[in-house]
Amino acid sequence: MELNKILPLIVNDNVLHSKWLNTLSLMENTGARKISASEDPQTVTYIILKHAAEEHRHAFYLKKQIEKTKGDCPTYAPEFLLAPTYSKYYLNQLDVLVSRYLKQELNLSGKELRFAAYLLVTYAIEVRADELYPIYQDELDKSNSKVNVKSIILEEEGHLEEMINQLKSFSPQWEQHAQKAVELEAELFNSWVSALAAELMPSMAS
Ligand SMILES: [Fe+2]
Ligand SMILES: [Fe+2]
Repeated sequence: MELNKILPLIVNDNVLHSKWLNTLSLMENTGARKISASEDPQTVTYIILKHAAEEHRHAFYLKKQIEKTKGDCPTYAPEFLLAPTYSKYYLNQLDVLVSRYLKQELNLSGKELRFAAYLLVTYAIEVRADELYPIYQDELDKSNSKVNVKSIILEEEGHLEEMINQLKSFSPQWEQHAQKAVELEAELFNSWVSALAAELMPSMAS
């Protein structure tokens, strides 16, 4: 994965590292706000509340880690982010594509569509988080960085399990739908990594 080439550059440069943390914080915050927005005010469950709270905590925790890089990224304005356009586009676009798929395949609308999109989008993101954060933590360890994301890794593992449980009760064909969401996510993630590469290693961008 190209990310393996990009991460050492990021972790060993305080300015890039602070922007990377801020970018992850933005993405966690976008995810948290999406979960909160999809909540049904009456039927929201313990698991959904827990999940939203933890994603909000991840956004805050990553923002706090920026202190350790001595960086300064006070807001999510583009100048404090890496690949700002793609970083903002990634989750919103995944939501659009998954919702379109659910409308076409399962004919869902309204509340049902919102809940199903929450399940599939969040599942795909949890699969990604379970891959991305451990790779990042390895790089942090190699560079003896003071930054660490171990508490996030632990919670993301729990989230994936919780999403699978919720998906199982959503549909007997959950695996087929989840696979589609993962495919849609992979395309968007690869574009995001390419955008990062183009920004950080312009000479190597194709
Ligand atoms: Fe998270
Ligand atoms: Fe999560």
